[in-house]
Amino acid sequence: MNDLNEKLTKYAEEFNAVLRNFSDNLKCKPQILADSLKYSLEAGGKRIRPSMMFAAGDLLHVERAELEQFALALELIHTYSLIHDDLPEMDNDDFRRGKPSNHKVFGTGNAVLAGDGLLNTAYSVLLSQCRKGDNYVTAAEFICDSAGIYGMIAGQSADLLYEQNKELSEEILGYIYENKTAKMLTAALVVPAILADGKYYSELKLFGMNFGCLFQLTDDILDVEGNFSSLGKSVGKDEEEDKCTAVKLFGLDGAKLRADILADKCLKILNGIDGDTSFFEQLVLYTLSRKS
Ligand code: IPE
Ligand code: IPE
Ligand code: MG
Ligand code: MG
Ligand code: MG
Repeated sequence: MNDLNEKLTKYAEEFNAVLRNFSDNLKCKPQILADSLKYSLEAGGKRIRPSMMFAAGDLLHVERAELEQFALALELIHTYSLIHDDLPEMDNDDFRRGKPSNHKVFGTGNAVLAGDGLLNTAYSVLLSQCRKGDNYVTAAEFICDSAGIYGMIAGQSADLLYEQNKELSEEILGYIYENKTAKMLTAALVVPAILADGKYYSELKLFGMNFGCLFQLTDDILDVEGNFSSLGKSVGKDEEEDKCTAVKLFGLDGAKLRADILADKCLKILNGIDGDTSFFEQLVLYTLSRKS
């Protein structure tokens, strides 16, 4: 796993340089708007989506410079989703990325606007890439669809709808996982595949969806078994809000069993890809036992 840690650190550092450049050039006014955007962007975060995008780029020989703005857009959208996810009217979480949530510092109104601002800016970043050619338009569209009403927003809507619901099913849980989480993670892998003229598009998409569900499943397990200092966010919240999670549906052991099955499926999909997939294999195993 040391190899994985080194690579994750390297990719995160590369991405943070892109993000710093973006933050340094933010000129919006009033100052509270710029401050609230930067607060959440610079609060840390694992940068798993940009790292996966860069790793897929390395696998498919897509130049880093071609991916940087797509990674930026994806992380801007992800960060906005977290700001809104934490709002009192959604998950009501007071901490995020080891710091008080955006709305706890800037107030709910400003937190809504910070999220809106990040989403809007992400689209502007994506549009700037579209001038480069058809593949770039297709890649930008994929991110928009993954984040939108047939993706993350739909998942978040279902996540709210099925709070305190007694008639849950594996199908409902799958819908929530796939949409709120897996599609954004899948986009990180599909963008490089599109820029590589579709190379391993289907394999990476299938891997992304299964890995994304595994990632959310382990997030739900960590909400029960994890701790604040490693996660940087409160634990026990899913039970408090009576969320539809694998733990609620199958119990802790049942959820862990399903995580093992999903991890196996991820590894099998990787077998169908030639080239060095060790980063992704290690990422799957790491995710099974992750603490943050
Ligand atoms: C948190 O995502 C929300 C989920 C989809 C589970 P991450 O675990 O990637 O959060 P950061 O970006 O590291 O803060
Ligand atoms: C979040 O799922 C998914 C998003 C799209 C933001 P959670 O609500 O479980 O994420 P955390 O636990 O707050 O990070
Ligand atoms: Mg949520
Ligand atoms: Mg939440
Ligand atoms: Mg969670």
